[in-house]
Amino acid sequence: MFCSSHIFLLLTVIGLTSGAANNSYQNCLQIAARFATTVTNGPVADIRMTNGFKVTCPQIGNNSCPMPMTNGVCVFQQKLCVTCINGSTVRIRVQSNGLPRRCMIVFPTQKLAELNIDFEVNFNPDVSVNSPNQSPTTTAAVSALLCNVTNQGSVPATSAYNRSQISTPQDALAGVAVDGVEILNANSANLVDPFYPPAGYSPEGADQCISHPAPTSGEYHYHVASGCMLNPPAGNISGCGPDIGCLNSVANYSLKMFSSYKNLTVIGIAKDGHVIYGPYNSTGQQVTSGFDVCNGMFYDSIGNYAYFATTTYPYITGCFGPANYPNAKPNCTTNPAQSYTKSIYAASMSTSIGTTLNVSSSIISFITFFIIFTYMIIIN
Ligand SMILES: *[C@@H]1O[C@H](CO)[C@@H](O)[C@H](O)[C@H]1NC(C)=O
Ligand SMILES: *[C@@H]1O[C@H](CO)[C@@H](O)[C@H](O)[C@H]1NC(C)=O
Ligand SMILES: *[C@@H]1O[C@H](CO)[C@@H](O)[C@H](O)[C@H]1NC(C)=O
Ligand SMILES: *[C@@H]1O[C@H](CO)[C@@H](O)[C@H](O)[C@H]1NC(C)=O
Ligand SMILES: *[C@@H]1O[C@H](CO)[C@@H](O)[C@H](O)[C@H]1NC(C)=O
Ligand SMILES: *[C@@H]1O[C@H](CO)[C@@H](O)[C@H](O)[C@H]1NC(C)=O
Ligand SMILES: *[C@@H]1O[C@H](CO)[C@@H](O)[C@H](O)[C@H]1NC(C)=O
Ligand SMILES: *[C@@H]1O[C@H](CO)[C@@H](O)[C@H](O)[C@H]1NC(C)=O
Ligand SMILES: *[C@@H]1O[C@H](CO)[C@@H](O)[C@H](O)[C@H]1NC(C)=O
Ligand SMILES: *[C@@H]1O[C@H](CO)[C@@H](O)[C@H](O)[C@H]1NC(C)=O
Repeated sequence: MFCSSHIFLLLTVIGLTSGAANNSYQNCLQIAARFATTVTNGPVADIRMTNGFKVTCPQIGNNSCPMPMTNGVCVFQQKLCVTCINGSTVRIRVQSNGLPRRCMIVFPTQKLAELNIDFEVNFNPDVSVNSPNQSPTTTAAVSALLCNVTNQGSVPATSAYNRSQISTPQDALAGVAVDGVEILNANSANLVDPFYPPAGYSPEGADQCISHPAPTSGEYHYHVASGCMLNPPAGNISGCGPDIGCLNSVANYSLKMFSSYKNLTVIGIAKDGHVIYGPYNSTGQQVTSGFDVCNGMFYDSIGNYAYFATTTYPYITGCFGPANYPNAKPNCTTNPAQSYTKSIYAASMSTSIGTTLNVSSSIISFITFFIIFTYMIIIN
């Protein structure tokens, strides 16, 4: 006889092997609601043409202000629209002008830019630990993959990413934070960790929100997680200096900014449609292991895969996963992960046949049905 616990076990077997992630329309709306949006009935034709959230910022001079000065003061608008598109595959569209809901520090000679970020991608697509998108094994291969500022210019086909024709080029874009600010690839334009570079390179500066504008394009961006994504400071902001414990310790400072968010906290969405969480998991512990070489992690038993903020390079996401768990480390940082290890969920979903022979999902499905079939014979 079939009783409910048998059905539950059966569903567990199916769930573990087919990896159904939380990617319903409702799931998408829950994530979209975490963003500091300024437009409700999206998508819009051009985010720059909308009315946003006004930020008055006397510390930004007239040469740097991204919008015309108002009575001699820099006033700009943060504009963000995140739309879930229902269908058999749920998609998410992210439209942002890239400006934050707070002041910024910018060199007087630098001009901040209003951007037109506009892309659409499958929301939290189903992926499998047994079908990695990347699998470098040597130091050279890990370095070639991670230490490439445009490696996230190509998004896995399963994400079906596309961007608006009139949008700002997005080759170095890794994702968008919940405040609408760009999360750029982990590397600087010099192809090294901006804050913990190897010998021969100087660390880059940043403001108290651990963000800075790109020198020529004026694109304001993050490379590491910042509490300002969730909780923008009011008024003038300061630099990433020793007074706030930021200088020379950017990674630890980043973690400290999440002391009031010791839970699973959405901080953004990656360009491949996977969610980006802060440094803590759902049981309130800091994520220090369980992630792959891209910084992605299978973090629950139903197969959800997401990027987590870490205090080690690549800090948010270094490539689009899922990926492997090599012994080698990248050469473009002095602050690499100690090791890459499978989470307990990734380990339980791994088929040893799958990883060694790379068996196709149809064979995995066959095995699933075989297990279910055997199970039905046993319980009857
Ligand atoms: C995913 O969905 C399951 C129910 O199917 C729910 O229990 C779980 O909390 C969801 N996880 C997230 C991260 O939304
Ligand atoms: C903010 O910075 C501007 C320009 O440096 C300065 O004039 C102003 O007094 C500052 N405001 C506060 C509240 O410190
Ligand atoms: C900026 O302000 C200075 C004086 O405060 C003025 O000389 C200059 O023309 C202004 N530049 C622009 C682009 O408005
Ligand atoms: C979303 O689409 C699915 C499948 O196409 C459908 O079953 C569901 O009712 C839709 N949900 C809403 C809220 O429209
Ligand atoms: C890392 O190694 C690659 C060769 O594998 C080399 O081309 C690159 O310059 C190295 N990068 C640094 C920062 O040493
Ligand atoms: C960096 O990654 C991009 C996108 O995958 C690729 O086209 C390019 O060849 C890579 N660059 C190097 C130096 O490997
Ligand atoms: C992506 O492609 C779809 C289908 O062609 C289109 O409806 C959508 O507008 C495109 N998204 C963007 C951001 O251009
Ligand atoms: C973080 O702080 C600890 C001491 O609390 C130190 O050992 C470690 O090197 C720091 N890490 C970084 C990346 O700055
Ligand atoms: C996480 O913690 C923050 C701050 O304490 C709180 O606002 C938020 O609701 C919590 N989120 C969850 C999912 O518990
Ligand atoms: C959270 O992380 C801790 C430490 O890595 C781990 O022991 C715990 O199982 C994780 N919680 C969940 C729900 O995965």
